[in-house]
Amino acid sequence: MIVDSVLTNAKAYINGQIIDCSIAIEEGKIQKIGKETQMPQADEKTDLHNLLVLPGLIDEHVHLRDEGKAYKEDFSSGTAAAAAGGFTTVLDMPNNDPVTMSIGTLRNRMETAHRKILVNVGFYSEFPKKLTEIPDIVEGDAVGFKIFMGCQIGGLYLDDDQALQDAFKEVAKLNRPVAVHAEDRAMLTANEQKLNQAKKTGTADFLRAHTEAVELKSIQRLLKVSEQTNVRLHFCHVSTEEGLNAIAEAKKSGRKVTCEVTPNHLLLSIDDLKRYGQMVIMAPPLRDRNHVDALWKGLADGSVDTLGSDHAPHAQTEKSASSVWDVKVGVPGLETTLPLLMTKIKKNQLTIVQTVQLLAEKPAEIFGLDDRGRLEQGKNADLTIIDFNSQFKIDVSKFKSKAKFSPYDGWDVQGKVVKAIVNGRIVFDEGEIVATGGSGFIVRRGSG
Ligand code: DOR
Ligand code: ZN
Ligand code: ZN
Repeated sequence: MIVDSVLTNAKAYINGQIIDCSIAIEEGKIQKIGKETQMPQADEKTDLHNLLVLPGLIDEHVHLRDEGKAYKEDFSSGTAAAAAGGFTTVLDMPNNDPVTMSIGTLRNRMETAHRKILVNVGFYSEFPKKLTEIPDIVEGDAVGFKIFMGCQIGGLYLDDDQALQDAFKEVAKLNRPVAVHAEDRAMLTANEQKLNQAKKTGTADFLRAHTEAVELKSIQRLLKVSEQTNVRLHFCHVSTEEGLNAIAEAKKSGRKVTCEVTPNHLLLSIDDLKRYGQMVIMAPPLRDRNHVDALWKGLADGSVDTLGSDHAPHAQTEKSASSVWDVKVGVPGLETTLPLLMTKIKKNQLTIVQTVQLLAEKPAEIFGLDDRGRLEQGKNADLTIIDFNSQFKIDVSKFKSKAKFSPYDGWDVQGKVVKAIVNGRIVFDEGEIVATGGSGFIVRRGSG
């Protein structure tokens, strides 16, 4: 048999170990992993010169925008940024224009995406107004539902516990996860109104609105509302010690809950908010050091399941305003996450095993991406190839994302993404995108 390609001299992450091996790829799947002498003949051979090969990384938390928000990011630029950052699969959030919250909006989004995408993309949906539409959305291959608890974005009325419970029951029957942005809308808007009336418009005032209590209240409410529903709740970007503890407790009692942290909440704190100002306004906001330490502890003890970049691109002009309330929240993250983490590995603050769990194995498990997350015969040939020792400075002007700003601009990091292989094809190679739109596939149920 002559396969499509063989990669030789790889140092590949297989079941928790780095193994010297070669990898054969046929029709977008891993056909064989073994010694070079055991490899089948191939149309193409690539010598990886002992570079580190990880299972194609998955970023479960990305805002790709496009459609009405294409000026901030579109499917081409967003998935180019993903490939350059070492992510071969990303999951797209639904707060778009129009909001992804029906079979129609989901299908339109997939239609717009499929010829443009360079990496695999799965789509979340917000909840529809009518619960009877939930099965259609699942049939339409949404990877899961996302609910923003901080403001009304989808069709589900946030203040109604019963409506939330009914929706959770419906999704549980169909065995899809529900990702949540946990900030309590009522508490948050009351805080914002008070501050607005007092003409408080500085960056510190943003923290006075998005308090720790705002996050905790929402987490506690959701844990209670979901108690009898069997739903799988996945808490996005947990930013507080108390919030993480509440989730860890629920897990210990056997509840099916999981949670994510972002690099921003691990690497930055309130000090950086003072330093970088409005650029690092995000929701939830950067916190005090004690919370940062608690998140690191959560990584070490397994209370944290996944890492998501929360890639939130905006036009640069939207990142500064005379009032903090007019600043768009979020920063791009696809092209900084992996080198930032690799740098932490170098400093012995994180292990490669943790990183692969957080960015590949766990997201694959939570979102049912059965063909991904591990290097194994038969799995999708999605591979992230890294020069672990290569040192460089993060440079926003080189971003493939339209959002060319970052608090990490100029940071010294190590661990350069050399190639990203998506569905067996090299998409990103030595700084360049070398494939055409459509090389990535839409993630569908059953297709992994
Ligand atoms: O910082 C954020 N940015 N938090 C959100 O909840 C939304 C996101 C965005 O879409 O920009
Ligand atoms: Zn969010
Ligand atoms: Zn987000």
